[in-house]
Amino acid sequence: MKITLRPNLYFGIIFCLFLNSFNSFSQSNSKSLKKAYQDDFLIGTALGTQHILEKNAQADKLIKEQFNAITPENIMKSEVIHPELHRYNFDLADKFVAYGQKNQMYIAGHTLIWHSQLPRFVYKIQSADSLKMFMEDHIKTVAGRYAGKMNSWDVVNEALNEDGTMRPSIFYKLLGEDYIKMAFDLAAKADPNAELYYNDYNIEQPAKRKGAIAMIKKLQASGTKIDGVGIQGHWSINSNNIKEIEDAINEFSALGIKVAFTELDYTVLPNPWDLKGADVNQNFEADPKMNQYKDALPDSVGTKLANRYSDLFILFLKNKDKISRVTFWGVNDGHSWLNGWPIKNRTNYPLLFDRDCQPKKAYNAVMQLKSGQ
Ligand code: G3I
Repeated sequence: MKITLRPNLYFGIIFCLFLNSFNSFSQSNSKSLKKAYQDDFLIGTALGTQHILEKNAQADKLIKEQFNAITPENIMKSEVIHPELHRYNFDLADKFVAYGQKNQMYIAGHTLIWHSQLPRFVYKIQSADSLKMFMEDHIKTVAGRYAGKMNSWDVVNEALNEDGTMRPSIFYKLLGEDYIKMAFDLAAKADPNAELYYNDYNIEQPAKRKGAIAMIKKLQASGTKIDGVGIQGHWSINSNNIKEIEDAINEFSALGIKVAFTELDYTVLPNPWDLKGADVNQNFEADPKMNQYKDALPDSVGTKLANRYSDLFILFLKNKDKISRVTFWGVNDGHSWLNGWPIKNRTNYPLLFDRDCQPKKAYNAVMQLKSGQ
C-alpha cells in the first residue's frame, strides 16, 4: 500500500520531532550544571570528608549529577596529609582521588604549600635548610603519590598580602620569594602532567592582582612551569566587583595562563569588618543582627544572591575561552565554611543548593542563562 502524506502533515511531523528533541535536550540540561555548561568550562565543588566517604546519599547524588570537577576542602592540606615529620596519612586523600577517578571527574589538588593549616612540627622549624627539606619531602611525596591521577595542583596558596607584597609566612621569612619558584619546580618534577596553579583570594582586586602578575611573570621569566591562576572568589552579595573580575580575567589570561575560579561562594551575612565604626569589643557572636536569617532566607535576599550569580556567570560565559573551571566552595549551604567563619554558628546561604540539597533561585538563575541555547 502506498502512503501519501500531505506537505502540512510532513511539516507537523518534523515540527513534533524537533520539539521532542529540543525538550529532551533542555530537560537533561536543565537538571545539571555540568551538562548545561559542558561546552564552556568545568563546574566543580569542594568535597568534605562525608562526601568522599559517600555518607550522605542525597549529597552524593547531587555531586554526581551536577559537578564534573572536585577539590578536597581540607584533607590534602599538609596538617592532615603530613601530620608528623616522618608520617604521612593518605587514607582520605586516596579515597578522594579514587572517587574522582570512579566518577570521571577533573581532580584538583589543594594545596601543596600554604602558610595555614601546617603541621605543628613545621612551625618549630627555624632554619632555611630544614624548611627546604620539608618542602622537598612534602611535594615529592604527595604530588609524587598521585602523579598521573591529578589534573591540577594548587601549588602555592595565598602567598600575597592585600597590597600585593609578599605575605610574611614562615616560607617567606626563611626562604625569601624563591620559595615560590622552588615549590613550582618541585611540583613539576613530581608530577609532570598536572597543571600547576597559583591560588589566592582577592587577586581580582587591583593591588593584589598587580602583585600576583609580577610574581607569575618572574616565574615565567625564570623558566618555571605555571599553567594557571586560581581566583578563589569568596565574595559578598553586598559588594559588586564584576569590573575587577573582568579586568583580572583579561590581565591573567594575557600572561598565557588559564584562569580558574576555585572557591566560589557569596556570603549573604554581614562581616564584622563591613560595619564601619563598629566597636572592636562588640560581641558579634551574641548579636542577632549578625545572624539575621537564622530561620529562613528571605525571598528578597535569595533574589539578590541569584542576581549576583547571574551577573557573574554572564561574565564567565563572555570570557569562557579564558576560563578553565568554576568550582563552588562546598556542595550545599549546610556544608559551607561560611556557617562558621568569621563568626561561629551562623546560618549562611552562599551556594546554589539549600540545606536539603534542593536547587535555589540562584541555581535557576545560573541555569537560565543556558536555557535559550
Ligand atoms: O578536623 C578538625 C576536628 O578534628 C576538630 O574537632 C574541629 C574543631 O574545630 O576542627 C576540625 O578542623 C576544622 C577543619 O576546617 C575541618 O573541618 C578547622 O577547625 C577549621 O578551621 C577548618 O576550616 C577550613 C579552613 O579552610 C581552614 O583554614 C574550612 O573548612 C575550609 O573551607 C577553608 O578553606 C579555605 C581554603 O583552603 C583556602 N582558601 C580559603 C578557604 C576558606 O577559608
